[in-house]
Amino acid sequence: MRIPTSLSLVALALASLASFTLSAPLASAQSAAQTPPMGWNSWNFFFAKVTDMDIRASADQIVATGMKDAGYVYVNIDDAWQGKRDADGVLHSNEKFPDMKALADYVHSKGLKIGIYSGPGPKTCAGYEGSLGHEEQDAKLYASWGIDYLKYDLCSFHEAVMEKQAPNDKAAQMRLMFAAYDKMAKALKATGRPIVLSLCQYGWDAPWEWAPALGGNLWRTTGDINPHWDRIYAILSQQEGLEKYAGPGHWNDPDMLEVGNGKLSLAENRAHFSMWAMLASPLLAGNDLPNMKPEIKAILTNRDVIAIDQDALGEQGARVYSDGEVEVWTRHLSGGAMAVAVLAAGDSRYSTHPFHLDLSKLGLHGAQQGKDLWSGKTVTLTQNMPVEIESHDVWLVRIGSPR
Ligand code: GLA
Repeated sequence: MRIPTSLSLVALALASLASFTLSAPLASAQSAAQTPPMGWNSWNFFFAKVTDMDIRASADQIVATGMKDAGYVYVNIDDAWQGKRDADGVLHSNEKFPDMKALADYVHSKGLKIGIYSGPGPKTCAGYEGSLGHEEQDAKLYASWGIDYLKYDLCSFHEAVMEKQAPNDKAAQMRLMFAAYDKMAKALKATGRPIVLSLCQYGWDAPWEWAPALGGNLWRTTGDINPHWDRIYAILSQQEGLEKYAGPGHWNDPDMLEVGNGKLSLAENRAHFSMWAMLASPLLAGNDLPNMKPEIKAILTNRDVIAIDQDALGEQGARVYSDGEVEVWTRHLSGGAMAVAVLAAGDSRYSTHPFHLDLSKLGLHGAQQGKDLWSGKTVTLTQNMPVEIESHDVWLVRIGSPR
């Protein structure tokens, strides 16, 4: 998403929100997505080329690869499924998607759920038909197809509505944006079908402070991800401090997974997946499932790592300390357990020169019994223990009874 923004003041956001009448209470958002949504989305691999067949093949693979058994449930069509509206304003899918209802039925027949994409503006980011002026009609249409998840992407709404209707009035622009998200949240609610609402506006103006009250189950916290370590690490760094905003029913969304995409190394794929689990992030795979390599499947289906992400407490992890290029993150888990991730974020870490883990900084004292979630081995953690870890890799441990 490349639309520049000039909106910036959090105080302004809060003032605007306070003066805006909300009718999508927090409680309604919390009934869905009690743990971060898991599934797959078409954008990161197919982009605008996605077709009905790609969605069906991906649904097939989610079942065949064991991803479904591991917890992946949503099969989400991103941008570029839309065709034109007819004389009654009813939106039709384009030629790549001949029958949306049949597609939804197919996905449901696999025991999976299906998601779709739109935005409050006249056009989506890829230039397809948006929902402006047709919110209720579109929500009803999605419900009639059996849609279970909507990603609602700001895009052209900024330029076409916010800047046009309220030039030079940032507070009024923000109210327009709130109203647009609220409108769709209410329209979805009115259908009576539980539909997860994913707000996408690239983290502009601290959505974590207002998205839950607008009915968002998740909200993007940053601009778009891409399959390069520098981008993945930049996004990870931007999550610092956001942990207090996440919880059951409402999640920070550092964007969909790039695991298995581009030229990410195995270590980078593993570290990306581990850190998104530490963040209690939605786990939406975005790779080419029919051609997934076994080592990528092993990463995406690592049940121990998924259990960190899906932990019932819903507490997002946080960075506790860093030492040069190495960072130590922890996440509190249900039953008093704890996950510890030691991440070699930089480019010049070599396993022959270990990092020494300071357990006392994590509030831990004495030897701790844990499980290394990538080797599967039992480990004992001790004060200042050497951890051999290479660049862009992670050491992820679950401590059952931290002391
Ligand atoms: C924006 C979003 C992406 C994707 C594209 C589709 O850039 O941030 O995640 O949905 O639009 O056009």
